[in-house]
Amino acid sequence: MQILVTAGPTWEAIDPVRYLGNRSSGKMGYAIAAGAAARGHGVLLVSGPVALPAPDGAEVVRVEGAAEMFDAVAERIGGCDAAVMAAAVADFTPARPAGQKIKKGTGGLTLELVPTRDILASAREIFGFKGLLVGFAAETENLRENALGKMARKGCDLVVGNDVSRADIGFGSDDNEVSIFAADGSERAVGRRPKAEVAAAILDEVEARVPAAI
Ligand code: PMT
Repeated sequence: MQILVTAGPTWEAIDPVRYLGNRSSGKMGYAIAAGAAARGHGVLLVSGPVALPAPDGAEVVRVEGAAEMFDAVAERIGGCDAAVMAAAVADFTPARPAGQKIKKGTGGLTLELVPTRDILASAREIFGFKGLLVGFAAETENLRENALGKMARKGCDLVVGNDVSRADIGFGSDDNEVSIFAADGSERAVGRRPKAEVAAAILDEVEARVPAAI
């Protein structure tokens, strides 16, 4: 199976030295990419800026902003059997990044933000992706309801829901605890454990649904 994985945060430029980012470390997406490569799958990892080494056996495409991640996925998703979108992509980006470093004045600074394009939602609608599509749902409340909503809206086969209000799992931590929701109605709870083991549970669900994986 050829699998595309997105991981990490995106950095949205405010000016040449400042950006809007988030707390994603990339650990979850890199664990999925490493696990898939160790199982013998072809792995293309589209990664935002993180401080992690490339997983053994994965081809890594490094990007910075949401627009760049969108283009990298658009170019490469066509040849893949499955795509797992674990990246924390910015929903908003500065409307007009400054060409020069913004100088400190005496007053405040107001930034105008515009929405980014949703990469996961574009997989079916714009990229025409026919493979198995896995989204994540990073939620602070109503995990099940929000994850199922994202599955329907974004055309996913699986959605991995995680509670990002907790400090011991989710963003930045070594562990995660997730529920894997499937479009066929099944649900699998994966209790708190190292991200490598959560990745293994996600990959089991992917392999069970991609004939090419068997
Ligand atoms: O990187 P770590 O520190 O290990 O943390 C892991 C994680 C918490 C980042 C990861 O487990 C996770 O939840 N990733 C998804 C984060 C997120 O942005 O979730 P969301 O609910 O806002 O987005 C839903 C889905 O749409 C995600 O698959 C996301 O990749 C995708 N999306 C969102 C916005 C956008 N413009 N394009 C997208 O593709």
